[in-house]
Amino acid sequence: MGEPGEIRKLDEVVVNRIAAGEVIQRPANALKELLENSLDAKSTNIFVNLKNGGLKLLQIQDNGTGIRKEDLPIVCERFTTSKLSKFEDLTTISTFGFRGEALASISHVAHLTIVTKTSNNQCAFKAQYVDGQLKGPIKPCASNQGTQITVEDLFYNVPMRSKVLKSPTEEFVKIANVVGKYAIHNPSVGFVLKRQGETVSDIKTNANSSYVDNIRAIYGDSIAKEVFEIEHEDDILKFKMHGFITNVNYSTKKQVFILFINNRLVDSTALKKAVEQEYSIHLPSGGHPFVYLSLTLDPKNVDVNVHPTKHEVHFLHEDEIIESARKAVEAKLLGANRSRVFYTQDIEKYRWNVEHVLYPAIKKHLKPPKKLANDKSITNLIGLPTLYRVFERC
Ligand SMILES: Nc1ncnc2c1ncn2[C@@H]1O[C@H](COP(=O)(O)OP(=O)(O)O)[C@@H](O)[C@H]1O
Ligand SMILES: [Mg+2]
Repeated sequence: MGEPGEIRKLDEVVVNRIAAGEVIQRPANALKELLENSLDAKSTNIFVNLKNGGLKLLQIQDNGTGIRKEDLPIVCERFTTSKLSKFEDLTTISTFGFRGEALASISHVAHLTIVTKTSNNQCAFKAQYVDGQLKGPIKPCASNQGTQITVEDLFYNVPMRSKVLKSPTEEFVKIANVVGKYAIHNPSVGFVLKRQGETVSDIKTNANSSYVDNIRAIYGDSIAKEVFEIEHEDDILKFKMHGFITNVNYSTKKQVFILFINNRLVDSTALKKAVEQEYSIHLPSGGHPFVYLSLTLDPKNVDVNVHPTKHEVHFLHEDEIIESARKAVEAKLLGANRSRVFYTQDIEKYRWNVEHVLYPAIKKHLKPPKKLANDKSITNLIGLPTLYRVFERC
């Protein structure tokens, strides 16, 4: 048997880099955290600029509150946050980020630069970071109100990661997916996504647009035309639901299921399944709806202290809340289905079928055998002439 290995404490930079790799696994994770920070800072316009699917450059400019100059030295350290001070705050917190980990993590796996201006400062300040620490002095500069965060050479020091992320196009698609979903969920905020060097932006929504405007801008007119609003409130389970879902006339091969819980983009396989099942009654097999749902749960019922990359969420009273949400979708779809019968186009179609297919078929079966047909008393007895007249009138 060999000697046991000596146990050594890992170097702090190594520990932080491992932790960072868990939080930020690809450009879209980093962007999601940065978007949420901009929204937390009450921005009304957010501009995202990319190079190589965010691997070379990922830049986000907002017009939010900005960061105070005196906070800049520690803003990229782990567990520094303006959103939480004591453990109990976790149960009432309503902002997106809460663990003070995003900027720190990014600074451990990329070159990070912040340019920020608050309303009570004449000028902006620029700071650069490496491994959570300021690199060089904070310099005054000119910039608009808000914050610009520039992330360059993501995973330059994690060769294994950059090897896995080979396709900038794939990363771009994932980023566009995240930006598009946040744009739909935040119609009061204007979003732009642009690739550097391109003249046309990939996503553009205006501040103060409507949900349907943004669904159209991101997913196209064919979906925007077919969605209706759904609203539901459950006082007993203490949750609200709002969203836009396609009616039963619409079906697509590629499913879109966008779910926000307490304003954070998440996945819930159980809820998705329940909603899909409801639609499967109405849609042709292999057909899927477009669903955007936003659930607001009592913060006490959500475990907000989950890992930032953990998209799949669970919450208290999950089964009951999902059942309540499913019923709301069911009621909406049934209501829509009922009103569907009154579409003139449908009525014409049904009338033609009744007159030309159904009645002739019934009439054929109601013809008495020749022997009896001549016996008027029998046919009169069962009222056949009246019945025939009804058919003839049709
Ligand atoms: N775009 C931004 N505008 C204003 N403040 C920001 C912005 N991004 C980050 N901050 C500040 O930096 C802090 C740290 O951000 P982050 O590492 O994402 O942690 P968290 O969001 O969990 O607090 C935030 O609490 C916030 O005060
Ligand atoms: Mg954050």
